[in-house]
Amino acid sequence: MRTVRTIAELQAALDPAATVGLVPTMGAFHAGHSSLFRAARAENDVVVVSLFVNPAQFEAAEDLAAYPRDEAGDAAVAEREGVDVLFATSADELYPGGYATWVEVDGYAQRLEGVFRPGHFRGVATICLKLFNIVRPARAYFGEKDAQQAALVQQLVADLNAAVAIRVLPTVRDDDGLALSSRNSRLTPAHRGAAVALPRALHAGAAAYARGEDAAAAAQRVLDAEPLVVPQYVEVARFDGRLVLAAAARVGGIRLIDNVTLKEDSA
Ligand code: PAF
Repeated sequence: MRTVRTIAELQAALDPAATVGLVPTMGAFHAGHSSLFRAARAENDVVVVSLFVNPAQFEAAEDLAAYPRDEAGDAAVAEREGVDVLFATSADELYPGGYATWVEVDGYAQRLEGVFRPGHFRGVATICLKLFNIVRPARAYFGEKDAQQAALVQQLVADLNAAVAIRVLPTVRDDDGLALSSRNSRLTPAHRGAAVALPRALHAGAAAYARGEDAAAAAQRVLDAEPLVVPQYVEVARFDGRLVLAAAARVGGIRLIDNVTLKEDSA
């Protein structure tokens, strides 16, 4: 595996005839990232993983500063999973002085996460389009845990005719059901214990939906019973052909999101 830091180095490392699978990441790899790397490995000649904690998608400077970073550990995981190129780059490289262009995706960006994190999806859409233009992948890989992000990227690709296929892979969970997230490493043991209320609530919501009851209300009741969890939203939403129950909550100051499928459009 090669680690490159500049756009010029990255492009020099890629054979234009090879099909490239891109996994955009912000690092702090866990088994969810590994599942994306493996999917990319299985479908492409070359696997590129970008590692960039994108300041444009953080509203609060403290949240950006506190985001877990471990480039050496990440490089070891990527190498083990058969990644060819780690594009570990910087804000100076991607947003040089005078940078002035931003991508706004209407609709998805104004709901749920977009309400609680104004500006977040503008940063996500901009960095994803930049990475697609820089890497020119045949396919790019995202996780279903960030279902709204995945749907927004699909909208971006369709609207701006980006020549990349978006693959969305299932959420990877710990044994107790908590969705893997780089942010989980910042939970204290007490908060880690309480955080499991989030998947439990979504599970209860899905069971209520199957009985013809209000999914969001059922999930909200479970969250309200856990004093260490501060819910931000619990809502039914349609993301790219999937009806999902999505939720966000703060647990000990750490913001966690998750969702479960209630119904596929074809079902
Ligand atoms: O999901 C993430 O880690 C980020 O939002 C992404 C897609 C890498 C863009 O910075």
